[in-house]
Amino acid sequence: MAKGKEIASVCSQKMLADGIYSMWIQTERIGIQAVPGQFIDLYSRDGAKLLPRPISLCEIDQKEGRLRIVYRVAGEGTREFSRYQAGDPVEVLGPLGNGFPLKEAEGKRAFFIGGGIGIPPMLEAARQFKGEKTAILGYRDSHMFLVEDFRRLCPVAVATEDGSVGVKGNVLDAIRAEGLKGDVIFACGPTLMLKALKQYAEEKGMECFISLEERMACGIGACLACVCQSAETDSHSHVCNKRVCKDGPVFRAEEVKL
Ligand SMILES: Cc1cc2nc3c(=O)[nH]c(=O)nc-3n(C[C@H](O)[C@H](O)[C@H](O)COP(=O)(O)OP(=O)(O)OC[C@H]3O[C@@H](n4cnc5c(N)ncnc54)[C@H](O)[C@@H]3O)c2cc1C
Ligand code: FES
Repeated sequence: MAKGKEIASVCSQKMLADGIYSMWIQTERIGIQAVPGQFIDLYSRDGAKLLPRPISLCEIDQKEGRLRIVYRVAGEGTREFSRYQAGDPVEVLGPLGNGFPLKEAEGKRAFFIGGGIGIPPMLEAARQFKGEKTAILGYRDSHMFLVEDFRRLCPVAVATEDGSVGVKGNVLDAIRAEGLKGDVIFACGPTLMLKALKQYAEEKGMECFISLEERMACGIGACLACVCQSAETDSHSHVCNKRVCKDGPVFRAEEVKL
C-alpha cells in the first residue's frame, strides 16, 4: 500500500479530558487508504524536532478522507499539536504499520481492550469489526475519554485503578467481575496490561492480537529504533527482533516477548 508525506489540514480540535485532545484532520490520500490499527507520523513545525511523532488512528472516515486522532500531551511535540486550530496545516506521513486482522475474526466474540492512551485505536477497530463485540476500557481515575463513543457501538465495561468508576482495578478485573466471555482479544495499552492479557488468552484458549507503542524514529522500518523481541528470527534483521513500525504495531501475542 502506498504511503508518503502530505500536508493535511486540521478540521477541528477539542480537549476531551485533562491533557487529552481529539483532532480531526482532512487528508488527501491517507484517510482513504487507512485501516484500523494503523498510525500516522505527525511532524512538528519546529525544525529542531526532526523526528515525527507516531499517533494511532482513532477514527477513519474513508469516504471523506478524514482521520481522527486522540492523544495525550506527553512533551513538546504533542503540546504543539494541541495548539493547532481548524484550518492549520499539519505535515503527516502514513498510513503506517499493519493494522488489526479483523476479517480473520469475523463472526467471533471479540473483546476490544484499551488501557489509558491505548484506548483510541480500539474505537475504529471495534466500529469496523463484524461480529459480537464488547469494549473493555481501563483508566486511572474518573478522567475518562471516548466512553460514549464506544457505547454507541457495543456494550462497554470500565475499570478504574482508583475505583471511582466501574470495577476497581484493571481490565482483567472488569472482565472477571462482569463474567465476560469471548473468543478473540484485540488490545492496546501499557506493556504490563498486554502481558497480563497474553497470559489470560493462553489460559482461556483465546486468540490475542496486541498493538505495541515502542519509541520510534523513522517509522518506516529503516532504522531499527523500534524493535521488540520476537519469538522467531526476523527475516529482515536475522535476529529475534520485530520492527514495531513496519512488522507491527499489531502482533499476534505469541509472536512477541513482552
Ligand atoms: C505506534 C504508536 C502509536 C501511538 N499512538 C498514540 C496515540 O494514539 N495517542 C497518544 O497520546 N500517544 C500515542 N503514541 C505515543 C506518542 O507517540 C508519544 O506520546 C509522543 O511521540 C510524545 O511526543 P512528545 O514530543 O510530546 O514528547 P517527548 O518529549 O518526545 O516525550 C515525552 C515523554 O513521553 C515518552 N514517550 C515518547 N514516545 C513514547 C512512546 N512511543 N511510548 C511511550 N512513551 C513515549 C517519553 O519517554 C517522555 O517521557 C503512540 C506511539 C506509537 C509508537
Ligand atoms: S522506527 Fe525506524 S525501524 Fe521502526
